[in-house]
Amino acid sequence: MEPNLDSQPAVAYAARVEATDRFAFGENWRKFNASLTEEQRAHARASLIDWFGDLSGRTFLDIGAGSGLFAVVAAELGAKVRAFDYDPANEAIERGDVLDSNYMDGIGEYDIVYSWGVLHHTGAMWDAIENAVRRVKPGGVALLALYTRPAFAPIQIGMKRAYNASPGVGKLLIRTAWATAVLAERLLRRRENPLRYIREYPARSRGMTFWRDVEDWAGGWPFEYTDASEFRRRLPAGFVLESVKVAGQGGCSEYLIARA
Ligand SMILES: C[S@@+](CC[C@H](N)C(=O)[O-])C[C@H]1O[C@@H](n2cnc3c(N)ncnc32)[C@H](O)[C@@H]1O
Repeated sequence: MEPNLDSQPAVAYAARVEATDRFAFGENWRKFNASLTEEQRAHARASLIDWFGDLSGRTFLDIGAGSGLFAVVAAELGAKVRAFDYDPANEAIERGDVLDSNYMDGIGEYDIVYSWGVLHHTGAMWDAIENAVRRVKPGGVALLALYTRPAFAPIQIGMKRAYNASPGVGKLLIRTAWATAVLAERLLRRRENPLRYIREYPARSRGMTFWRDVEDWAGGWPFEYTDASEFRRRLPAGFVLESVKVAGQGGCSEYLIARA
């Protein structure tokens, strides 16, 4: 079953994604949390302050909360937080599906809706965007991070499908090949020291780590993408695009939109 790769009006794909087709995000997040450092938390905190400024007293919905790191630091910064995920990493995160309209209609409206790297993994990205932004209060904002259209989408799709269908050894080989390709590109094209790139990765990536992101890139399925021009064309009604940080191919571009 293929997701909506051509960005046609979303099909109800996710409902048909079999459990075996879906990457086990929660497992990856449990590994992430097992070695989370104070320095990573500080990078996560800084990224929220950078986007939203003072969070105290503001309501914050984290859609697809993953490890829960951003929900936790948003709460530390004084926000009133609700966080859910399709595949929660621990009991502190509620189980919920952004594509489940009944669930979404029941969770209220928020000053800030945060959904970083999530909606392109649902199997029906544009439906998920609609459902997510409906949770923004009048005058509130949503920060959506969505994969930038990759140059070689069929290769990425093939890799992700192979990854999820492979036994542990196959997964390790795919992760190793992917990590090698990323690090070789850093070294050969950008003249960056790969070891320093790995070491400094959390500082550039909201506290994430290189190896956990490799696993997420290799396996993250379902998988869709967009780009800034398509996002502008399909901007949800009633919203303005306040700012966008465009990431290169394979990265997540960040769109901050405000409800009029
Ligand atoms: C790449 S992770 C991003 C996690 C987190 N937002 C962050 O920034 O670290 C994507 C997350 O989206 C979640 N997800 C996928 N489909 C979802 C759905 N339909 N509803 C809610 N969460 C979903 C996955 O379980 C996973 O934890």
